[in-house]
Amino acid sequence: LWTPAQIIEDQVSRVREQVGDRHVLLGLSGGVDSSVVAALLHKAIGDQLTCVFVDNGLLRKNEGDQVMETFAKHMGVKVIRVDAEDLFLGKLKGENDPEAKRKIIGNTFIDVFDEEASKIDGVDFLAQGTIYPDVIESAASKTGKAHVIKSHHNVGGLPETMKLKLVEPLRELFKDEVRKLGLELGLPYDMVYRHPFPGPGLGVRILGEVKKDYADILRDADAIFIEELRASGWYDKTSQAFAVFLPVKSVGVVGDGRRYEWVIALRAVETIDFMTARWAHLPYELLEKVSNRIINELEGVSRVTYDVSSKPPATIEWE
Ligand code: XMP
Repeated sequence: LWTPAQIIEDQVSRVREQVGDRHVLLGLSGGVDSSVVAALLHKAIGDQLTCVFVDNGLLRKNEGDQVMETFAKHMGVKVIRVDAEDLFLGKLKGENDPEAKRKIIGNTFIDVFDEEASKIDGVDFLAQGTIYPDVIESAASKTGKAHVIKSHHNVGGLPETMKLKLVEPLRELFKDEVRKLGLELGLPYDMVYRHPFPGPGLGVRILGEVKKDYADILRDADAIFIEELRASGWYDKTSQAFAVFLPVKSVGVVGDGRRYEWVIALRAVETIDFMTARWAHLPYELLEKVSNRIINELEGVSRVTYDVSSKPPATIEWE
C-alpha cells in the first residue's frame, strides 16, 4: 500500500534521475494539479525549477497575489509573474463569440508563455500537471471540448514548438491522490480542495464581450458568494460555485430614483464527474444574504438571480 509520503519520495527520486542538473519550466495556474507539480518539483530539484504564472486579467479576486504568496514567498519557489491583463483584454476587445473567445485566450496564453520561456536560458524540460484521467481522456478522444480543455490547460501545443522533454510526475494519479500529495507537500488545504476553475477563467463567465469593468464587478460578486459559501459550510458541499456577469441592464430603485444596472447570476452545482450535474439546493437564507450583500456592496449591480438548470442540457459554465 502506497502512502502519499512514499509516492512523493518515489517521484522525487524519479524526477531527479530524469532531470539531472538540467532546468525545468512549469506553467503555474494556481489550480490543484499545477500547484502540486510545483511543490513536488521544488522539493526534488529546488532552484532548477522556474514557474511562469500568467495573469491574464481574468483571474478571481486576489488570485495572482495568493499564488505568489504561497509559492514565491512561503515556499521559495522561483516564480515569474507576467502581468498580461492589457494584452488579453486588448485581444478580446469586440469579440462576442464564446468559442472564439476561448481560442483567443488559449492562443494568447501560449504566446505569452512562449515568450517568457525564450528569455530563460538552458531549459530542457517542460513540467505539466497531467493526471491519469487526462491521459485516458486524450487517448479516448482527440476531438471535442475535453481535448480543447486539456490542450489549453496543460499547454499541449508547446512541447513540439519548444522541443522540450516532458516531466509529468502526476501521470499515474487520480485527483484525490493528487490532493493528498498536495497536503503532504505542505500546500494549504483551501488551495488543495479548491473548486475547479476553467482555463479561460472569467472570460467564459462574462457573457459576450469581455471588458475590464465587467471583470472587476464579477470578481467582487464572486468573492462575496465564495466567502459566504465558506462561512456557511456549503463550499465543501458543492462541487463548483461561481458568479456570472450578465451584460443586461435591469431596473433598481435607490432612494427616490430608478437606476438601470447589471445583473449577476449565481451558479452552484453538485457533481461527481462534471459530465452531469445537479444545481445545488442552497438554503434560501444563504442566497438571500449573498444577494443582499452583492446588491448593497457593489455599485453597478441591481439584481441577482440563481441558476436552477441541471446539466444536461445546461452546461456548468454559461458559455
Ligand atoms: P461545462 O461548462 O462544459 O464544464 O459543463 C464542465 C467543467 O469543465 C470546466 N470548463 C473548462 N475548463 N477550459 C477549462 O480548462 C475550458 O474552456 C472549460 N470550459 C468548461 C468547467 O468549469 C467545469 O468544471
